[in-house]
Amino acid sequence: MNSITKKWLLVVGARPNFMKIAPLIRAVKAYNDSNGAGILPFLVHTGQHYDFNMSDAFFRDLDLPQPDLHLGVGSGNHGEQTGKVLIAFEKVLLEQKPDLVIVVGDVNSTLACALAAVKLHIPVAHVESGLRSFDRKMPEEINRLLTDAISDYLFTPSPEGDENLLKEGIPEEKIFLVGDIMVDSLLYHLDQAKKTNILARLGLTATTADIPPGPTSDSLCSASQLLAPCSKLSYALVTLHRPANVDNRESFEPILQGLLQVTEKMPVIFPIHPRTLKQVRALNLAADFEFHDSWDVKPEGYYEDGVLRKKIHCFAPLGYLEFLNVMAHASVVLTDSGGIQEETTVLDVPCITLRDTTERPITLTEGTNVLVHNDPERIVLEVEKALDVNRKRSRCPSIWDGHTAERIVEILASPLCSPIPRRMG
Ligand code: UD1
Repeated sequence: MNSITKKWLLVVGARPNFMKIAPLIRAVKAYNDSNGAGILPFLVHTGQHYDFNMSDAFFRDLDLPQPDLHLGVGSGNHGEQTGKVLIAFEKVLLEQKPDLVIVVGDVNSTLACALAAVKLHIPVAHVESGLRSFDRKMPEEINRLLTDAISDYLFTPSPEGDENLLKEGIPEEKIFLVGDIMVDSLLYHLDQAKKTNILARLGLTATTADIPPGPTSDSLCSASQLLAPCSKLSYALVTLHRPANVDNRESFEPILQGLLQVTEKMPVIFPIHPRTLKQVRALNLAADFEFHDSWDVKPEGYYEDGVLRKKIHCFAPLGYLEFLNVMAHASVVLTDSGGIQEETTVLDVPCITLRDTTERPITLTEGTNVLVHNDPERIVLEVEKALDVNRKRSRCPSIWDGHTAERIVEILASPLCSPIPRRMG
């Protein structure tokens, strides 16, 4: 073992962070093993997400070690939540004295931890840097801009990220094009995900009724040579949680109108985010949903005497592996998530994004993704296109190869030997 020991503090807070940190922890261990290095990964969970299905299930599925520290900040308004993380994380830094802090993504915990570290002159690495929706009403856009402005190492998933950062005046030597870290988790876990029994539990095995034409049971995921063929089943998968979509009736209702029309074509499966569930109740929209207490549903849950029931079927949020399995086999995904736009690109699953901007334009040009905002007619039109045999197919960016975490660790570890980081890309 090398006598130089460095402590790297890695931060997770909310659901989309876990699959970005897991590959880094694996890569650090592998780097230590093959280089005789002594990098000590120290995992901090801010507690921004705390429900079992939003957090613990991901630790289980991704084989993440239990956090070394859990700050338990919980929910709150943006200022309150960001402030609580900032205060708690500064104490951690003063106590732990890490050599480096690694933050991922664009959630409130990302910004708060980067800010606490930079004020204490601790170097910060931001993974998934340079993404811009150019919509400053999105809380995540503010988190991205500010985190990138104060980070020392900016790891981008695609070339547009580099361009955005350079335009904002970030020095070139801080920017590293390394690929998409979420794809590391996807490729690493896909086979395992496909072995979960969630499709059968959700009653989503192939039925004789209503199999749509086009990318049905024998179509192949062609996006990546790395993926084994993956059959498509007759259902649409929905995820929806952005405040701009669900926090007021004017934006939520048109989306619902579109989804209800999709239910006339195939079952609509909606693992519902806690925020959205609250809003469905607060806005009195529950009549359009069928709420299932468990994931064990018989096909008759969707079909009655061979005829499709016309409701959006809601379930508790799924864990990482189960969600990946349901996404990989969906005929179409409708979402306002950022990461799912990338995952569907890799899986070559048609993706309809319920937003009018995206910080991931590569998924529009290379992937299956289309933006429809909250327009019900466009939702239905794009679902029809997705079910057509000649639908848009995706090409997976070549740098999304499952080795992003290794590239990051290689770059960050190089100051162990030399103070000048190497530039890639
Ligand atoms: C956060 C991220 C968003 C990310 C999303 C994924 C920010 C600004 N937003 O949004 O970028 O796409 O996570 O889920 O950081 N709640 C629970 N249990 C939980 C977590 C949340 O019940 O484990 C409820 C609470 O009522 C909370 C609400 O959901 O008030 C919203 O949670 P919050 O963490 O504030 O934001 P998200 O909408 O989850």
